[in-house]
Amino acid sequence: MPDTALVTGASSGIGAAFAALHASKGGDLILTARREAELMRHKSELEAQHGISAHVVACDLGAPDGAEALCKDIDEAGLTVDILINNAGFGGHGQHITRDISAEHAMIDLNIKALVYLTHHFARQMAARGRGRILNVGSTAGFVPGPNQAVYFATKAFVNSFSQAIDQELRSRGVTCTVLAPGYVETEFAKSANLEGTSMVKGGGATAESVAEVGYEAMLNGRLVAINQRSLSVFMNWIAPLLPRRRLLSLIERTQAK
Ligand SMILES: NC(=O)c1ccc[n+]([C@@H]2O[C@H](COP(=O)([O-])OP(=O)(O)OC[C@H]3O[C@@H](n4cnc5c(N)ncnc54)[C@H](OP(=O)(O)O)[C@@H]3O)[C@@H](O)[C@H]2O)c1
Repeated sequence: MPDTALVTGASSGIGAAFAALHASKGGDLILTARREAELMRHKSELEAQHGISAHVVACDLGAPDGAEALCKDIDEAGLTVDILINNAGFGGHGQHITRDISAEHAMIDLNIKALVYLTHHFARQMAARGRGRILNVGSTAGFVPGPNQAVYFATKAFVNSFSQAIDQELRSRGVTCTVLAPGYVETEFAKSANLEGTSMVKGGGATAESVAEVGYEAMLNGRLVAINQRSLSVFMNWIAPLLPRRRLLSLIERTQAK
């Protein structure tokens, strides 16, 4: 019986790539995001290509009861989540005070609150069974403060921190939690975050498939943190912590400037 993976944000980008990768290994899927038609399309393709079974739950995880409704649907369907991939998330360009506060709150609701709810719910079940894998999609943005995307960078700092602590709490109970911290990836993310035209985006990014592979492999090996690009890993681990804080802020601000 192959492991079943719940992938949030499976309708596009890195989430769709995680789903395809897991299906290619023979694993069953639970696919969720808001765009049901996209999810159904992925379900049909993956079931036909790999002979797996995919369950679709269209859900707004940013809505107040979204994550709870998703958990209820999965539990009532009698499905077991062996692998939880918390991937859904979005960003938003602009100085904090110029942005709509409801958009900032929506980002916190999805990137943090839904991720915490799903982790709490499914990690409890995994710990009770004595096995499970969690892969949370953080970002290299989570290792530094991000002027012009202040709330997004802060939500990812939460994900990077939370995930490592959860791993330490649960590892002895057979459950690991890996955080994937990618650099820029060419998906729908830049358009939805209004980042097109920033120097970060102009420089080009990795493919969703290559990033999903790095994260999936790290998750299977129970690694704590995975960064998809060696140069970024060196920068985040060895250079950024040594830079004067204001210099680092100016540097990041430039990458987010149009
Ligand atoms: N692309 C990058 O440069 C980059 C870098 C580092 C980290 N990341 C992180 O990687 C993750 C995946 O992003 P991506 O690059 O693959 O972007 P993407 O193509 O825009 O995918 C985002 C996914 O999240 C889903 N989503 C958005 N709002 C949702 C909501 N309210 N409820 C449920 N699902 C929702 C979207 O589906 P629907 O629209 O159908 O709901 C979509 O499937 C995010 O957490 C992002 O922060 C991205």
